Amino acid sequence: MFFNFRTVGKLALAIAFAYLANAAPVPTNETSELVQTYKSVAYVPDWYQYEAHKFYPRMLPVDQLSHVLYSFVKINRDGTLFYDKYAWTEQMLGGDSWGPAGVAAGGIGDLIKLKKQNRGLKTIPSIGGWVGTNEPGNNLSIAARSEAGRRNFANSAVDLVKNYGFDGIDIDWEYPRNQEQAHSYVLLLKEVRAALDQYAGKYAKGYHFQLTIACSASPEVIHRMHIKEMDQYLDAWHLMAYDFAASGWSDFTGHGSNLYPAKDEHTTPFSTDKAVHDYSELGVAPKKIVLGMPIYGRSFENTEGLGRPNPAHVSEEIEYKSLPKPGLEEHFDRELVATYTYDPATKQLVTYQGKEETRVKMQYIRDMGLGGAMWWQAAQDKEGDESLIKTGYEGLKKLDHTKNLLNYTESQFSNIKNALQDFDQGRVAAVMRLFRLM
Ligand SMILES: *[C@@H]1O[C@H](CO)[C@@H](O)[C@H](O)[C@H]1NC(C)=O
Ligand SMILES: *[C@@H]1O[C@H](CO)[C@@H](O)[C@H](O)[C@H]1NC(C)=O
Ligand SMILES: *[C@@H]1O[C@H](CO)[C@@H](O)[C@H](O)[C@H]1NC(C)=O
Repeated sequence: MFFNFRTVGKLALAIAFAYLANAAPVPTNETSELVQTYKSVAYVPDWYQYEAHKFYPRMLPVDQLSHVLYSFVKINRDGTLFYDKYAWTEQMLGGDSWGPAGVAAGGIGDLIKLKKQNRGLKTIPSIGGWVGTNEPGNNLSIAARSEAGRRNFANSAVDLVKNYGFDGIDIDWEYPRNQEQAHSYVLLLKEVRAALDQYAGKYAKGYHFQLTIACSASPEVIHRMHIKEMDQYLDAWHLMAYDFAASGWSDFTGHGSNLYPAKDEHTTPFSTDKAVHDYSELGVAPKKIVLGMPIYGRSFENTEGLGRPNPAHVSEEIEYKSLPKPGLEEHFDRELVATYTYDPATKQLVTYQGKEETRVKMQYIRDMGLGGAMWWQAAQDKEGDESLIKTGYEGLKKLDHTKNLLNYTESQFSNIKNALQDFDQGRVAAVMRLFRLM
């Protein structure tokens, strides 16, 4: 091995380039950006990593996303959090073999790799979900009620950020049932915001960890919540503008994610546009409202069509991947901005969101100045040009590219603790390769 002036010079240049590229000024918040940018947010459920689906975070279309919501984290009665540890850090995905101890494999291993590939991609664990927060007396409602519970929740949330290399916290409480719980929610957000800021002050100077929630489109729930008080702690409201009607709980058949209301309330018991206006009128800036949309449909059996009695009450969710069912024609209602199929032979109605509907909703997001698009959930999507996430991305064009964090010096996992160092080394190597080609 020998050194000469050329190679030393090249190395110095490569390091300088890598450093400069990394140190280039990045907007630290949205308002400082000159161009309007949008969020493209997708949930990915950890249980989809298992045999039945084998969908891993590495399969996400990361170039079309600004945020990934890794779901769901569950809550103990005392406010501490728990999750599927095996899926998160131990499971060997897609033919991976066991690595050295102390390295996070599983979904978390994938997510940190994605963050290095796309520095504009933020990953956030989602805490709660319908299962576990919808029953009376659920753990979240109990934990949020006491100061100790809220503190445990916030500390546990920061532990997730610190160990697994996340960029914020998302909470899905579906839903606070009364005024006491609505008030608890405000206090819980306050506690989590403070804990994230405290951690950032110590270990991630200048980084803003995001705090977001999934929120209801139902006027009743919206008006129950203390919107203005919550809003001061939140970076985004992910509006769950889906599940407006479903065979399992609706007396009439109806659309699940229509943008506008129909004249007859059975066909559209709720509307997205109404919810957006409700939040705005209660003081939420449109830019902070992220429009949630379904990548699945819901079927109704034995029905004469839309807005008709729903005799079956059997709920079936169908992945967008397998819609429309073979041989059926997709109907897009331009007035309501809603999609469905109806099979007169089997009397089955399926409501869902198609590509055309997605294009119109992206126009709506831009016209209304909303924050972007959110999807439940990535594994149910079609591929290539048929993908709803891609259709959405193309409708929004410029994604929020605020930089993610890679500096997690306190993580217990070496691949997360050293993520920034690995990223910088990768960049030096890439620049060196470029020099060798010159
Ligand atoms: C965002 O940037 C603008 C302009 O640089 C600044 O005035 C504002 O205080 C910033 N907001 C936050 C929350 O940092
Ligand atoms: C509620 O908390 C208890 C522990 O306090 C836990 O065993 C249980 O699994 C939790 N329930 C849910 C639905 O997360
Ligand atoms: C990473 O974070 C540590 C604090 O935990 C800080 O001392 C260090 O300067 C940070 N590194 C970079 C490159 O920002």
